[in-house]
Amino acid sequence: MPIETTASVVAEVPDDADLLAVPYASDLDPAHVVELHLPVRDLLTHYEAKGEAGEIVDVPVARAGGVGRVLFYGVGDGSPRALRKAGAALARRVKGRDRLTVVVPEGDVAAFAEAALLAAYSFKIGNAGKKAVRTLAFAGADEVVVGRVQAVAQAVALARDLANTPSSVKNPAWLAERAAEIGLPVRVWDEEQLQADGFGGIVAVGRGSASPPRLIQISYTPAEPVDRHVVLVGKGITFDSGGLSLKPTDNMKTQKTDMAGGAVVIAVLGALARLGAPVRVTGLVAAAENMPSGTAQRPSDVIKHYGGRTVEVLNTDAEGRLVLADALAYADAVLDPDAVVDIATLTGAISVALGRTVGAVYASDDVLAKQLVDAGQASDDLLWRMPLIEDYTPALESSIADLANVEAGSRFGAGSITAALFLREFAGRRPWAHLDIAGVGRSTVDEGTLSKGATGFGVRVLLEWLTRS
Ligand code: BES
Ligand code: MN
Ligand code: ZN
Repeated sequence: MPIETTASVVAEVPDDADLLAVPYASDLDPAHVVELHLPVRDLLTHYEAKGEAGEIVDVPVARAGGVGRVLFYGVGDGSPRALRKAGAALARRVKGRDRLTVVVPEGDVAAFAEAALLAAYSFKIGNAGKKAVRTLAFAGADEVVVGRVQAVAQAVALARDLANTPSSVKNPAWLAERAAEIGLPVRVWDEEQLQADGFGGIVAVGRGSASPPRLIQISYTPAEPVDRHVVLVGKGITFDSGGLSLKPTDNMKTQKTDMAGGAVVIAVLGALARLGAPVRVTGLVAAAENMPSGTAQRPSDVIKHYGGRTVEVLNTDAEGRLVLADALAYADAVLDPDAVVDIATLTGAISVALGRTVGAVYASDDVLAKQLVDAGQASDDLLWRMPLIEDYTPALESSIADLANVEAGSRFGAGSITAALFLREFAGRRPWAHLDIAGVGRSTVDEGTLSKGATGFGVRVLLEWLTRS
């Protein structure tokens, strides 16, 4: 289901707008004075308004044929962060209404409008719950800016929809069908082709499931021919039970979103053409369902990855790195990228380290790391660079294979870092970055730009990065 709210632009505020939002700062003086025929300052003083971002003063006004409302909204210090808060608060306040006309604030209108659209998102099955506002009409905004914002918000909504879909519906083949719908050339490996081409990690993880694995490749080529080629790799575990290293119920019940990274890759690829991204991008989604069964891989099995490297599987719940390793090795060997970025709900450990609002970026290349951290700042998908600590590489030594998928003992710890070190082994010598989004991929709150469940984290930062020239 696409995002329900349409953003549009109006040149002037219609006199008869029955639901109108007008900004004000702490001086209680609406910056853009539309003729409201209201004692605005007195009203705001009366309601003890302070002008903080997120504050809304809801005033009934006489309109032809009834009563309308003006929503005075605080803009705080006018920073992008404050405007995001203000935009989200507005969209939340008008749930279920047909149309809100918004006099845009001064400053970063894109951040404001994007937050409003994201806050209007909700995932409901059937017709449960209250619908979002149908149209957000931005008065005084730039049409091009609003069009871009709408494309980004729709991509975030697609990523959320895919990740929120129950795993009884979204098996790997279903995910491949969704990828084929975005309108770009897609190549899909089924289980036999995966086996034949040596994708031993994806095959091993998918073996326990009645729904076989897939590798999905999506190709975007810009209208203007370019040299630069980026590969995005997403973890597409459509359900992570842990496999034979079974998770306890409480940890398992969130794991339908373990393909959030793959969903981001699909959604980003789907938005590139609309945003006119000036770079060639190949998306890879390594999709499998991690289940325990009589055909499942066992702790202590040794598997062979794409390219021939062997891995001793000591814990079948460390499955994300196994499917990603194949895709990274394939990208390096076949696709000749200038940069590779993978995105994955990889480790519970990263939410201990960075919490639920900041994602982790690991990188083999300082320039790439900085570009991603900067794009994170600009887009509000915040990233913090984590270290690839060389002293921890012995954690993944195996006595019988090239590598182990987890540390055998508990000398090193650092679960998110050692997972990143594992992936690095397969990325080759190319500039590579890894985003661990296990902490930020889902939200427990319905607040601000976040809705409960999948967040779509990664869509905004990757689109920001790929559309900067
Ligand atoms: N999908 C999980 C990571 C995860 C945990 C995502 C919580 C979202 C929320 C991943 O496959 C996993 O199970 N990781 C293990 C790794 C361990 C076995 C080394 C973990 O983090 O416990
Ligand atoms: Mn797992
Ligand atoms: Zn997982």
